[in-house]
Amino acid sequence: MTKENIAVFTFFGATGDLAKRKLYPSLFKLYQKGYLKERFGVLGTSRADWSTDQFKDVVKESISGLESSAEEADKFASHFEYVAHDVTDQPHYSVLLDAIKELDERFDAQGNRVFYLSMAPNFFGEIALNIKSQGLISDNGYNRLVIEKPFGRDYKSAKKLNDELTLTFDEDQIFRIDHYLGKEMIQNIEALRFGNTIIESLWNNRYIDNVQITLSESLGVEERASYYDTSGALRDMVQNHIMQIISQLAMEQPVAFTDADVRVEKVKALRSLRVYSAVEAAGNFVRGQYAAGDEGVDYRDEDGVPEGSNNETFVAGKLLFDNYRWSGVPFYIRTGKKLADKFTRIDVVFKKPLIDIFAFPQQSDATLSANVLTIYVEPKNGFALTVNAKSAGQGFETEPVKLDFYQDEKSEKDVPEPYERLMHDAMEGNSTNFASWSEVAYAWKFVDVIRRLWDIEEPHFPNYLPGSMGPKASDELLERDGRSWVYKLDNK
Ligand code: BG6
Repeated sequence: MTKENIAVFTFFGATGDLAKRKLYPSLFKLYQKGYLKERFGVLGTSRADWSTDQFKDVVKESISGLESSAEEADKFASHFEYVAHDVTDQPHYSVLLDAIKELDERFDAQGNRVFYLSMAPNFFGEIALNIKSQGLISDNGYNRLVIEKPFGRDYKSAKKLNDELTLTFDEDQIFRIDHYLGKEMIQNIEALRFGNTIIESLWNNRYIDNVQITLSESLGVEERASYYDTSGALRDMVQNHIMQIISQLAMEQPVAFTDADVRVEKVKALRSLRVYSAVEAAGNFVRGQYAAGDEGVDYRDEDGVPEGSNNETFVAGKLLFDNYRWSGVPFYIRTGKKLADKFTRIDVVFKKPLIDIFAFPQQSDATLSANVLTIYVEPKNGFALTVNAKSAGQGFETEPVKLDFYQDEKSEKDVPEPYERLMHDAMEGNSTNFASWSEVAYAWKFVDVIRRLWDIEEPHFPNYLPGSMGPKASDELLERDGRSWVYKLDNK
């Protein structure tokens, strides 16, 4: 049976793009599925001078196409109120408090409060402090803070932010969103690893040669230049999403599948990630920036991007863990904008058989390929194991074949959107799929070295064409080790 969640949400940044595209539709889906029934209220706030009616219209517009009737949409929207508010105006928090209390009483929300920060990150700390000092914390229910990325710009600023937040909220009340952790196949990493003897028993440096993670995007910077040009692919995708994925791939088996146990193991994994010296970073990480293609313009000529910007739109790198399980196994990562396609995949490349008896004794004619476990995160949910088998017919030749599984259309349709899942988890108080402070801290410490290096070295940009898989240096990173990317443009 579906368990009803009871809470009043306060959205800071309620008129923003994310709220409209993701947050309200996700709440609506929870409502349709019965995770939210009658006992929830939503207070929207931002500086915009909107009325509650205007806000309700926007909410209804954001769910249009999802609703089964106008009446259903109206009923859902009746749980929403709006208060225009400047987050730096301390005395005005009392108006928010009155509205929260009113919603709480009207919908019998039992003092459960979720504060959701989805706005300019430079205000996160101040809002949290004001929530406390102005009495918005309830004493008869739970109080939780959900916080959007970016969590700082480097370790120092992230620590400062965290110190500010923890003056009001304890670590177990803070839910740092990383929407990749809400993705079905990222959650499946744990099921695949810890639910299968044949996978987990081979999950180490004796059998795995290398691991490859690719987060590829076909779009460019679009309308987000003002944010993206101050962030770059390293901060935008590597510090958070990729580090989260890598920690799940590398961690030891948790005692139990609980948020506390999973976090302990992820942190342990990140602690054993080798933090590079500047020289090592220069050898193990490469960056890129897209050039004009047939249709577009150079990144540097995009609207809102400062002339001559050295911001990277592509990163590839090699990461190493110094622990018993992974010593000597490179984890290669890459991500970028304006690449060949929009997809995310993880390729776990196993070692080849020590001897290829089918080619014996002429080893140069070796025919066996490496086994590869591919986790398809997007656009399809699935995985495949490539194994060598005999080619059908007379004679004896081997060829790689794929044992694969893809979720069918119906299951894919039933898969909740990341935000739907994560908002539900936050109401349930389950932080398994949120980034803990220690994880964020270790990720920044790793990334900071690369960032500092790139901030002082002049790159040769632009260096890759739209529709490619990034600059040549990304391929060379693996070629140098006698390896290559499993996903290449000519062998998807
Ligand atoms: C966001 C980044 O975190 O993730 C964006 O800020 C990026 O730049 C997006 O486009 C990618 O997410 P997804 O779910 O579309 O792969």
